[in-house]
Amino acid sequence: MATKTEQGAQEYVPAEPHSLDELRRAAAGCRGCHLYRDATQTVFGAGPEHARVVLIGEQPGDIEDRRGAPFVGPAGKLLDRAIADAGLARADAYVTNVVKHFKFKATATGKRRIHQNPNRTEIVACLPWLAAELSMLHPQVLVALGGTALKGLLGPSATVAASRGVLLPWPQAAYQPELFPDEGARLLATIHPSAVLRAVDRDALYDGLVADLRLVTSALAG
Ligand code: URA
Ligand code: SF4
Repeated sequence: MATKTEQGAQEYVPAEPHSLDELRRAAAGCRGCHLYRDATQTVFGAGPEHARVVLIGEQPGDIEDRRGAPFVGPAGKLLDRAIADAGLARADAYVTNVVKHFKFKATATGKRRIHQNPNRTEIVACLPWLAAELSMLHPQVLVALGGTALKGLLGPSATVAASRGVLLPWPQAAYQPELFPDEGARLLATIHPSAVLRAVDRDALYDGLVADLRLVTSALAG
């Protein structure tokens, strides 16, 4: 039998939320899966309630876990630069993650925490928070940053390589469209900023990320 902590986030999400702050407070106490146990805190999304673009990463990293805010480490700095280079206003963007607790493995000495990819069960458990955030935000465009976020949204067979370069209808393209508010947004798939940091050919990957984000800038202008 599933234990209480394996049942997902839904029971922790307020039934009729009125604001992102209310959601953020509720998410701080989420025990919807086991990931809360080892992490420091829930890292909820951040940005203005009127944001037209919502950028969705995988999960908080080591620095985000300590600071309690998404995309404030090296990947976040690169993402901020890419957003600016694509002509998007930072004030138009809300950033969040498909999984809201940091999943890691401690090294043998216990000194370092190594990032672990969240699995499908953990992603599905956490999706109610993203759905609730989107119901408060009403964005025009969602951006899935990397394969984990994309698979969380479009299902396990989705890949960035096959999906990027076009704006997909949202939530129609979702694996479980009924989870998400049906407000006629669009979804763009692109690479994760961490992939740029890890790449040998950083400039080419960075240019690809910016080119994808420019599609969002055009969509907002059009
Ligand atoms: N990587 C992510 O996917 N999300 C963060 O918040 C930070 C790094
Ligand atoms: Fe809840 Fe998500 Fe954290 Fe799991 S990862 S405890 S579902 S907020």
